[in-house]
Order: sequence, then structure tokens, then C-alpha cells
Amino acid sequence: MLVPKLQKSWDSSLRKFKRIQRLKKTLLQVGSLVVALVSFSCAGMQIPDSESQGARLYSKKCSMCHGLPHPSRHSRIEWDHYLELMKGNMDKKGVPYNAQEMKTIRTYLHRFAKGATS
Ligand code: HEC
Repeated sequence: MLVPKLQKSWDSSLRKFKRIQRLKKTLLQVGSLVVALVSFSCAGMQIPDSESQGARLYSKKCSMCHGLPHPSRHSRIEWDHYLELMKGNMDKKGVPYNAQEMKTIRTYLHRFAKGATS
């Protein structure tokens, strides 16, 4: 009477063990997929027309204090607002930033802004 019962519990432990093994494997696969995706999206974090003068100036001036937001993150109106705000931030920190540079960056951001059509 006892033996079949033991056999049964052994069977179910074995099944559980196998299930956990399978789960581990799946988790590992999902994990590496996530890692691959994250590194891919970081590598893909290129700004548009990255060789242009505007893009170069943008990444030079605007990545000093924080990560570089993608131009499509904000609309033209929002960029104008942020550019004014950042001018203040930069002045406070003594980061050299003149009107011509601001214009170049503004033109660049407007070109690829959210909802920009041309
Ligand atoms: C002197 C440091 C400094 C520089 C240089 C700077 N920023 Fe910022 N930026 C900040 C700080 C600090 C914040 C946090 C919000 C705040 O209090 O102004 C911020 C926030 C932002 C935000 C809003 C948050 C977000 O991630 O959407 C945007 C957009 C932004 N900056 C764009 C720019 C752009 C464009 C430039 C280049 C013209 C720039 N920043 C250069 C300091 C800086």
C-alpha cells in the first residue's frame, strides 16, 4: 500500500523538478533575449542625420548634463520651450552657448521633431 504511494509522490516530485528545469531554461532564454534587445536598442540610439552640423552640435552641447533625448521625443513647440529652459540651465552652469548655436540646434531639432512633416 505504501509503495505505490511513494512511487506516486516520487513521480510528482520528478515532474515538478522537470518543470522547474524547463522554467529555468525558458527564463534563461527570455533573459538573454531581453539583454540582446536592450543592447540592440542602445546601439540603435542614433540620432537622425548624425553626421550633420546640427546633429553634431546638438550632441556636443546637449549631452553634458544628461542623456541626449531623441529629437522625435518632443514637438517643435515643446523643443522651443526646452531650448529656452536649457539656455537658462547652461548660463547658470557657465556652459558657453551662443544664439547662433541655439539656432543651429533648434533648426536640427525642428527637422526631426515629433509630428514634423517637412
Ligand atoms: C548645464 C546642464 C545642462 C545642459 C548643458 C543641458 N541641459 Fe537639458 N536639462 C538639464 C537639467 C538640470 C534638466 C532637468 C529639468 C530642469 O530642471 O531644467 C534638463 C532637462 C531637459 C529636458 C526635459 C527632460 C527630458 O528628458 O525630456 C530636455 C528635453 C532637455 N533638458 C533638453 C536639452 C537640450 C536640447 C540641451 C542642449 C541645448 C540641453 N538640454 C542641455 C540640464 C542641462
